Amino acid sequence: MKFAIDDGSTNVKISWIENDKVHCVTSPNSFRKDWKSAALINGKKIFNYQIGSTKYTFDATSDRALSTTHVAYQYDDLNLLSVHHALLQTGVSPCPVSILVTLPITEYYNADDCQKNEANIARKKENLLREISLNKGELFEIVDVEVLPESLPAVLTTLVDSGINAFTKSLVIDVGGTTLDMGVIVGEFDDVSSVYGNATIGVSMVTDAARKALAAADSDASYLVANELIKHRHDREFACEVINDLSKVDWVLECIENKIQELGNAIAYEAKTFMRNPNRVYLVGGGAMLIEEAVHAVYPSLGEKIVLLEQPQEALSREICCYHAA
Ligand SMILES: Nc1ncnc2c1ncn2[C@@H]1O[C@H](COP(=O)(O)OP(=O)(O)OP(=O)(O)O)[C@@H](O)[C@H]1O
Ligand SMILES: [Mg+2]
Repeated sequence: MKFAIDDGSTNVKISWIENDKVHCVTSPNSFRKDWKSAALINGKKIFNYQIGSTKYTFDATSDRALSTTHVAYQYDDLNLLSVHHALLQTGVSPCPVSILVTLPITEYYNADDCQKNEANIARKKENLLREISLNKGELFEIVDVEVLPESLPAVLTTLVDSGINAFTKSLVIDVGGTTLDMGVIVGEFDDVSSVYGNATIGVSMVTDAARKALAAADSDASYLVANELIKHRHDREFACEVINDLSKVDWVLECIENKIQELGNAIAYEAKTFMRNPNRVYLVGGGAMLIEEAVHAVYPSLGEKIVLLEQPQEALSREICCYHAA
């Protein structure tokens, strides 16, 4: 069985084909050290893992969650954990599997000549073939790993269907949890002409601001809760549920809105600097809808040629699945 896995730093997106249909699941990365005790949580499934001699557990709401928002994450314990954990969220019974995973574009290609960085690719494969165990449970056995670049494959079918010619330059902007990745594709994937990554710009800017604002409103929250609030920022009922100090609800929401604006401006600026006049722009990644407006503002003449992909967060894993896993 084959799974396509976009193992981002904040969420793992996993896609597979079952009964001729593409299925997608998003599994957030929220792990902490040590194990959870089963006694406290009746009937709820718990995931206690062990890698070597280190114990980890999945804990969605812990504010002690280990950080996965750095590049080294791609090659460490947490990545191995998050991939196995995502596989278990598919509902498929554990079996031997082949997986396709992704590396950030600037890890996958050498920035200076756009050639594959074979050392990084081999390192990622080795990491995912390591031994891991689940307490009182069975894990998938990963038998084969293939590595692909992040972001760019997300637009495969969109490009093929859009009737472009061999000279069209498409700018792909991927707004992830921690990084902004951009790449330029010439024609229908004839060539990747340049790549750019910025590990200081991502949705986590907004998440951090939201967490700070929440803390100031007597409501310390995990990354996950803060992200949910960002998604549900127009849902007053939800906001009142997570914000304890009700007098500060408007203020918290305003902090979030301001930061979204700031994120959009920063990305629009980076994009314009990276590529002044692309023929088309494609927006992918979980943060894509937060920045659509700002991107339109810096490329005013492109209009409809700026495309927000459908379900932008899952787009990459879905496309990889359709193209390679079938
Ligand atoms: N509809 C939405 N509105 C606002 N934010 C969203 C929405 N959907 C997802 N997000 C947020 O987008 C962020 C990035 O998601 P994504 O899965 O693309 O990141 P990632 O791939 O884990 O990160 P990276 O690519 O930097 O490694 C997450 O923090 C998520 O909470
Ligand atoms: Mg990503």
